[in-house]
Amino acid sequence: MALEVETLEAGYGPVPVLRGVSIHVADNEAVAIVGANGAGKTTLVRAICGLSQATAGHIRFHGQTITGDAGHRRGEAGIAVVLETRGLFGELTVADNLRLAEHTGRGVKRPQGFRPFTLGDVFELFPIVKEKLATRVELLSGGQQQMVAVARALLLQPRLLVLDELTTGLAPKVVQEILSVLTALRSRGMSLLIVEQSIKLAAAMTDRAYVMSLGRVVHEVGHGEWESTMSNDAISKAYLHG
Ligand SMILES: Nc1ncnc2c1ncn2[C@@H]1O[C@H](COP(=O)(O)OP(=O)(O)OP(=O)(O)O)[C@@H](O)[C@H]1O
Ligand SMILES: [Mg+2]
Repeated sequence: MALEVETLEAGYGPVPVLRGVSIHVADNEAVAIVGANGAGKTTLVRAICGLSQATAGHIRFHGQTITGDAGHRRGEAGIAVVLETRGLFGELTVADNLRLAEHTGRGVKRPQGFRPFTLGDVFELFPIVKEKLATRVELLSGGQQQMVAVARALLLQPRLLVLDELTTGLAPKVVQEILSVLTALRSRGMSLLIVEQSIKLAAAMTDRAYVMSLGRVVHEVGHGEWESTMSNDAISKAYLHG
């Protein structure tokens, strides 16, 4: 099992935002987290990546408990994240941003058979990233920055890639490009945990989903249950955007 989160509580102050969240992602599985604004999706992502500390519960990654580990230790273990804020250095060029990630990724240990991402792989997935190598990141469009952010995350050589609302605000054509990149990542054996506002996109990107509301998982969408979830008015109205 790539990721196991068990009865997790986490938040920003004395009152937890997450109230006993349990989810898992199997090896080479893609799983979505959906739910309305403020449901706790980003808080869950931050807790998984070590950006905020859990106050109760457990997180295991490939069988190892990582609940108390700092963010950089989780990166070394193989968790990479693209947050809504992207985490790029705007004043630096695309090339410099990638070089920093490449350097960090070179130092990590991975299981036998793991094929590391090269710059060449990244350029193949995102040709625009190669074209814009000499450009400062702050001068790129939102969609281009998202692609650099994913490219950067891949050079950290993750076994699990966590994406928080990657497609929000992107043009349909860019969304399609990202969908095909995610398919390519799956074929390399990567596991994906994807926060997505649109359940339709979640269905296109992942195998199954957890629906969150008010800091809890309130519904699970299993393999082959996307259609019935989308046509279930009670779930859509209560927990999803349209
Ligand atoms: N830095 C913070 N400090 C205090 N409270 C926060 C902070 N960030 C989020 N919260 C609160 O935690 C709750 C969950 O927020 P979170 O960002 O996890 O939701 P979300 O599901 O990602 O929403 P969205 O779809 O809008 O991104 C909200 O009530 C929010 O107000
Ligand atoms: Mg969020």
